[in-house]
Amino acid sequence: MAQDKNYTIEETLDPDDWDSLRTLGHKMMDDVFDFMSEVRGRPVWKHIPDSVKKQFRTSIPMEPESSDNVYNEFLENILPYPSGNIHPRFWGWVIGTGSPMGVLSELLSAAMNSNSGGLDHHSAVHVEKQVIEWFKEIMGFPSKSSGLLTSGCSASNLIGLTTARNVMSNYDIRKEGIHPEKTRMTLYASEEIHSSIQKAIELMGLGSSALRSISVNEYFQIDLNALKEAIYRDRKEGYSPFCIVGAAGTTNTGAIDDLNALADICKEENLWFHVDGAFGSWATISPEVKPLVKGIERADSMAFDLHKWMYMPYEVGCILIREEENHRNSFSLTPSYLVHGTGGQGMTGGDLPWFSDYGFQLSRGFRALKVWMSLKEHGINKYGRLIQQNIDQVRYLEKLIKSTPKLELIAPASLNIVCFRYIGLDPDYTRLDDLNKKIEIELQESGIAVLSLTLIKNDIVLRVANTNHRTRREDFDLLIEEIIKIGDIESHKSE
Ligand SMILES: Cc1ncc(COP(=O)(O)O)c(C=O)c1O
Repeated sequence: MAQDKNYTIEETLDPDDWDSLRTLGHKMMDDVFDFMSEVRGRPVWKHIPDSVKKQFRTSIPMEPESSDNVYNEFLENILPYPSGNIHPRFWGWVIGTGSPMGVLSELLSAAMNSNSGGLDHHSAVHVEKQVIEWFKEIMGFPSKSSGLLTSGCSASNLIGLTTARNVMSNYDIRKEGIHPEKTRMTLYASEEIHSSIQKAIELMGLGSSALRSISVNEYFQIDLNALKEAIYRDRKEGYSPFCIVGAAGTTNTGAIDDLNALADICKEENLWFHVDGAFGSWATISPEVKPLVKGIERADSMAFDLHKWMYMPYEVGCILIREEENHRNSFSLTPSYLVHGTGGQGMTGGDLPWFSDYGFQLSRGFRALKVWMSLKEHGINKYGRLIQQNIDQVRYLEKLIKSTPKLELIAPASLNIVCFRYIGLDPDYTRLDDLNKKIEIELQESGIAVLSLTLIKNDIVLRVANTNHRTRREDFDLLIEEIIKIGDIESHKSE
């Protein structure tokens, strides 16, 4: 039939020959499994040579190349130079490890290519609804609460705080925007709170000066008296305090604020209680450390990640909001071309609302699949054990630091993070910042380990954040050995 109609040639991105693509796909799977299973034998990180960087400065390809060539280029120029966080000795910043099932589930979700922003009666939204229900239960949120998977905790914080701003303002802020004279809204968090909170406040139009940075106590937790004083002072001066952000695991030291006390203050002062629990909220699944995050279940909104301490591949985080209606009222917007909930069995006729009614993204990938498959594959108890294992490993490292005279413990391990520095036997305190910077760089460049640096009480220190399910205690023995070796060499060099 088609021949009679004189159609023009029509193209597709599908291959002419599925069998050869299938062969290439099988090779990719083999290479991926080799890449993951042999990771311990490789350096954690290595420099990208200039010759390779140059390959990424060519202009956009106009004509096709064979799939084999494209893949070979990936093998040659991309795969050998990762950021290193799947390696057992990567402990920089707070970066998760990923998992083999996570990798496979990404392949499956890309094959389905479902848009989880909307539509109903397709499997992706039901999977996401299920994992949100699981998280509500784990975090102790009530069944009437709502949630959304996000790109990460920065997005989750923005969604949580936007909801807080909208609910706590005394006029229709979605419609009228920020009135400087009406909106002297202020938000409170410790000076150790993550920068994504400030970014959120700026994006929300309140300005970074609306964020009151409260001092911390000796355990790097928010100082409750200083907090109460700041709220009192602001009210007196005509500001409108609207929210306290509690940290369940600060980035620098893993400190957990007294969340119960913060929930009490919020209740007394009629403030919204948001918790940034990017990684520390997962203490909740380890019976030993669960008491540290007591009070988290009282939050009005709570942000956390799955790609950090739940070892799932980037990107996936989550926001939970205690009152579903508040959440939806902050984000739902339904133009005629997205009308939904009209009844019937079709993809637009089902239950209100869509996931796009709970966040700023309309189109959304099928992030829920990797979460669902990972949790089903291992069960939450295993994740709880891994989290406890990471904590125990960091306690082991802390002991090593304390028993090594050339090292100084700077911030004790409250969870899975420890900060310390090399001081040598006869420390010259004016040189320690430089020396520790050099140690951190040399560890990376030699491919032994990746740590990061941070500033604690004006000193530059080494920081280990363990969100790594591949780490073993022997890795920390090696780390200490190498730090002493490098520190000794570097301190002699500059004498
Ligand atoms: C405590 C805390 N909050 C928020 C974030 C931001 O999370 P994400 O990188 O997933 O956007 C981080 C990132 O490290 C963090 O440590």
